[in-house]
Amino acid sequence: MTANPGIPFEIPGYRITRQLGQGGMATVYLAVQTALEREVAIKVLGADRAPSEDLIKRFENEARLIARLDHPHIVSIYEVGRASSGHLYYTLPYLPNGDLTARKDGGDQRRIIGILRCLAQALGYAHEHGIVHRDVKPENVLFDKLDRPLLTDFGIALARHSDVRVTREGATLGSTGYMSPEQARGQALDGRSDLYSLGVMAYELLTGDLPFHGPDALSVALAHVEQPAPRLPPTRRAWQPLMDRLLAKDPDQRYANAAELLDGLDQVENELEQRRNGDPAPAWRERMREWPASLWVGLASIAGTLLLLAMLLWPKGQEPPESRFVTVPATAGASGLADAPDTAVNPLPTGAAPTDAAAARTKAALDAAPRQLQAGNLTTPAGDNAAESYLLVLSLDKANAAARDGLDRVFAALGQRADQALSTHDAGALRDQLEQARMLAERADLRDSPTWTGYLAGREAAFGERLQALQRTGSAEQLAALGPFVELLAQDQPALRTHWQEAQRQLAARARPAGELEPALIYVPAELDGHRLDHAFELGRTEITRAEYARFVRATGRGAARCREPLRPLSRLKSLQWRDPDFPQGDDEPVVCVSWEDANAYARWLSSQTGARYRLPSEAEWVHAAQSVARGGACEQGNVADASMGTRWTLASRYKCSDGRAHTAPVAHYKASSIGLYDLVGNASEWTTGCAAKDCSERVFRGTSWRDGPDETTVGRRGDSATDTGYTTIGFRLVRELEPAAATAAATP
Ligand code: ADE
Repeated sequence: MTANPGIPFEIPGYRITRQLGQGGMATVYLAVQTALEREVAIKVLGADRAPSEDLIKRFENEARLIARLDHPHIVSIYEVGRASSGHLYYTLPYLPNGDLTARKDGGDQRRIIGILRCLAQALGYAHEHGIVHRDVKPENVLFDKLDRPLLTDFGIALARHSDVRVTREGATLGSTGYMSPEQARGQALDGRSDLYSLGVMAYELLTGDLPFHGPDALSVALAHVEQPAPRLPPTRRAWQPLMDRLLAKDPDQRYANAAELLDGLDQVENELEQRRNGDPAPAWRERMREWPASLWVGLASIAGTLLLLAMLLWPKGQEPPESRFVTVPATAGASGLADAPDTAVNPLPTGAAPTDAAAARTKAALDAAPRQLQAGNLTTPAGDNAAESYLLVLSLDKANAAARDGLDRVFAALGQRADQALSTHDAGALRDQLEQARMLAERADLRDSPTWTGYLAGREAAFGERLQALQRTGSAEQLAALGPFVELLAQDQPALRTHWQEAQRQLAARARPAGELEPALIYVPAELDGHRLDHAFELGRTEITRAEYARFVRATGRGAARCREPLRPLSRLKSLQWRDPDFPQGDDEPVVCVSWEDANAYARWLSSQTGARYRLPSEAEWVHAAQSVARGGACEQGNVADASMGTRWTLASRYKCSDGRAHTAPVAHYKASSIGLYDLVGNASEWTTGCAAKDCSERVFRGTSWRDGPDETTVGRRGDSATDTGYTTIGFRLVRELEPAAATAAATP
């Protein structure tokens, strides 16, 4: 027995050296156990004042609990006793390396993982033994000589079979900074409450700060109940999914047990490892880690519900595949604690192996999703919708093909709803549907995926159809009324706004009274299928027909240019001209055998007659307009050389298609381009203003003619010829210039 200055009691067998710490109910001293000459810590109850009955009970409770626990990361107990002064005490190993409060600098993430792992193991062990710590905080994590963390201070811990009175009085004990929401509410606790507190500690270790603050303990406790935890800083984003689970308000959304938390820590470690190796996590997974806790709430509630269902439906007499509830001993252990069951406390077991759990959740979610799809639960209601089910599966198994297909179906269904909203002119519904799809794409990081581009293409097609329908039969007012819808769609597809504006201009241009002489014109936007020109213009919908040219000749008395058939030298011997190109032509077929000069004369005459500015297109304009022609399928898009030509042209027999036309065909007879231009493919090649020789004595024609096979490319075909000669394969169409302001305004959306 040794007297200790300043310490008002003595404990036989120990020489008390100094005070190590002071808690609510006890003081801890450093002492030397004289018999063994070893340093120990002595925890003395009510060292400074007489303890209440309740405190004595709680102290005894703690000693007994610790005595039941034998774990490398839980501080053990040596002996329990009563000092001569009557003070209760117990002794425990002295841990010289301080507590976790001294290590809040957030430093090494691996070290943090290591510490959390040890504590998760300790808690898992305690929970398995029916004990909830209820005061997990940095002060209660001590480091031994080897710097290993150990959990201590089970002062307010509760065992399943502990004294009920302590249960009630201790219900809201615990440090509010680390207190779980259910603890703050004074509700029944289970092991998940400890996991929450561990989460707060993890947050603090990572950021150097607590997630919730307040002027007093009550406000902090309330914040735990009500406020969402702040997001981790970007440097700690690998931890966000783990943190979301740990700090979920609803215990059902948290890790079900410490074993699951350990899996979560493994994932964080892998993630950090991959980042270190410059191997970023798959983007979609990265994104999922950014999900707000509310989404996890939804996901976990699905999982919880499904699990519950599985348990209810599982055949009697068999164990369910996974159960958070395990059998606990019916009686207390050797400590002899009271046997009264405490139903308020539901310590968590470690549960089934995590892989089994993941497989069960995957299966349950994949089973539920088709029903949710069927019921139209695409993204709502929270906790019971197909999107969440599939995302849950992908969070467990990123390559799961069924879930990926499933998400595609969700997008398809969302797309249909958006199109429906467009056709019923319901802007609010369209906004909602687009927003849902956008959020889903964002969460699953599908923004760069075929799923998302497919979704957008679907909306573009629906919008395009609507535009076309209005252009065909609608009024300018109806087209203008699409404005709010365009704005919604343009958030993802800005080009749709341009299409709409162009459609409006086009309709306005059409509405202009066209004189009898004026050809039908198509507005060609400056931006067309990704191809850009510095101005918009109007281009003849078809090539100039023989009827149109004949009117010009009648009016002007213009003579016919000489004409040749390319590659047929003998055609020189015939006097070919536009009226008789050596094959029969109807009035509605393109005029051919007109020279470049003829074409320009026609444009000048038309301009003079109409007051508008007509001219041949430049090469750039022609090529730009031809962007609207679909690739491939030349036989459908124009009158090209094919088997119909028979022996007239030997190569033609190579071509499979046959439209019954050996030479030119009526204009606008084949498929229009996407903006409504005809015959850019086949029929006649077309003169442009393009200069071929230095002195421009030869000019460029573009596009294929009736004599070019279907494998000739439309845009690529280019030739040049003398300006004073016509050819049986070349005709023309005209540009009508827009007002300069309109052309450039159209070029700058
Ligand atoms: N503070 C509280 N308990 C302690 C222990 N066992 N060792 C060192 N410091 C402590």
